[in-house]
Amino acid sequence: MPEHWPRDALIVLGASEEQIPLYQEARRRGIPTVAVDMRPDAPALSFADAALKISTRNTDAIADALGDACPAGIVGGASDAALASWHELGLRYGTTYVYPRSALAANDKATFHAIAASCGITGYGWTAPDNPDEVVAEAAGLRFPLMIKPADGSGSKGVTRITRPDDLPAAVAYARSYCASQTVIAEEFVQGRPLAIEVFMRDGRALMTCVKDKEFVDGSFVVRRLRTAQLSSATHNQLEATVERLCRALGIVNGPANFDLVLGADGRERVIEANARLGGDGVPRLLAAAYGVDVVRALIALALGEPFGSHLMPTRAAHAVLELIGSPLAVEGELVTWEGVAEARNTPGITDIELYAKPGDLVRPHDQSGHKIGLIVAAGPSVADASSALETARALIRPIIRPRPFLAATKGES
Ligand SMILES: Nc1ncnc2c1ncn2[C@@H]1O[C@H](COP(=O)(O)OP(=O)(O)O)[C@@H](O)[C@H]1O
Ligand SMILES: [Mg+2]
Repeated sequence: MPEHWPRDALIVLGASEEQIPLYQEARRRGIPTVAVDMRPDAPALSFADAALKISTRNTDAIADALGDACPAGIVGGASDAALASWHELGLRYGTTYVYPRSALAANDKATFHAIAASCGITGYGWTAPDNPDEVVAEAAGLRFPLMIKPADGSGSKGVTRITRPDDLPAAVAYARSYCASQTVIAEEFVQGRPLAIEVFMRDGRALMTCVKDKEFVDGSFVVRRLRTAQLSSATHNQLEATVERLCRALGIVNGPANFDLVLGADGRERVIEANARLGGDGVPRLLAAAYGVDVVRALIALALGEPFGSHLMPTRAAHAVLELIGSPLAVEGELVTWEGVAEARNTPGITDIELYAKPGDLVRPHDQSGHKIGLIVAAGPSVADASSALETARALIRPIIRPRPFLAATKGES
């Protein structure tokens, strides 16, 4: 099947909502894009110049379809599925920037725990045997409460916290249903302040580091809010040094990574997981709102083999808060309309409002990151200012969702 791909195109692995800014940045620069995504209705496809309807995991099929195209670069966004292909295709096409193979280790939470331990970072109890029947027995020996998760998961899919051994079999089965590798990890629950850290490395040093506090959707571990953390400079420096060490251990010399951590009352951080890629959940918007940095521009510059540091130089030192908008319903529904959007946009301090669902779309309960239907970002001189702007706008914006009870039986198939 002969295909003519645009010359010197940027191959963008994935076409979800989160990846739209990658396509927009390429277009702004006049660089044609070839999107790779298996979903025929992937939301970013309309921003691409050409598309390959292939899974981003299927490196060989992507290379077969691209043939002797000579891409200017290859880039992935906030998706773990594409990372191995990002590496392989970079080697195959000889692009200046090649996603580091060693960073693929972060995809497996057990492997990552071993890497963190090798960096001297305080750990906690966990087990991830290959056989899921063994995980139930082994986890019973850990200190409860426990977190039960897919070992290769992302977006809070299949994650539960349990307080009793009796709940282990159901939690393991649930995690396994979201687990490509079939391996489930049980971890001791770490008490403390949940944080997420975004870092962009240059020449083995953190050029930009943003520490954020995380708040979850009630009763889950799905991120609902992120806000720039107020920390002493000693704590900030300690956290930055930790993520720098982890990036070096993962072979990330240049490029983005993000980490989930818990800061304990003892002042020590325990690292929950790493994602060796741009953060999802609209994090690039929050970074732009707080510091005026542009990690999307930086990443595309990196992928094209260009200097990228200028995009990461802060132009302000504000604070920002981001809220992910999800369905308030516990059953599937249909979006009827959005109300109050214009008023919300006009609220002083609001920097971004993005709506991912449109009238008629199926809206699922907000039980995983991928089910969000929009986001809103506010900035201000302090976290309190940004939070109050966000509260005002959030009270104005209302997704009107009609329950679809007849579809509730299919819940969980995603
Ligand atoms: N062992 C743990 N102790 C405390 N909190 C945890 C633990 N494991 C996960 N969490 C919380 O749940 C969130 C989701 O888990 P995570 O391992 O990051 O899964 P995912 O890969 O789906 O993002 C984490 O970011 C963290 O806030
Ligand atoms: Mg996480």
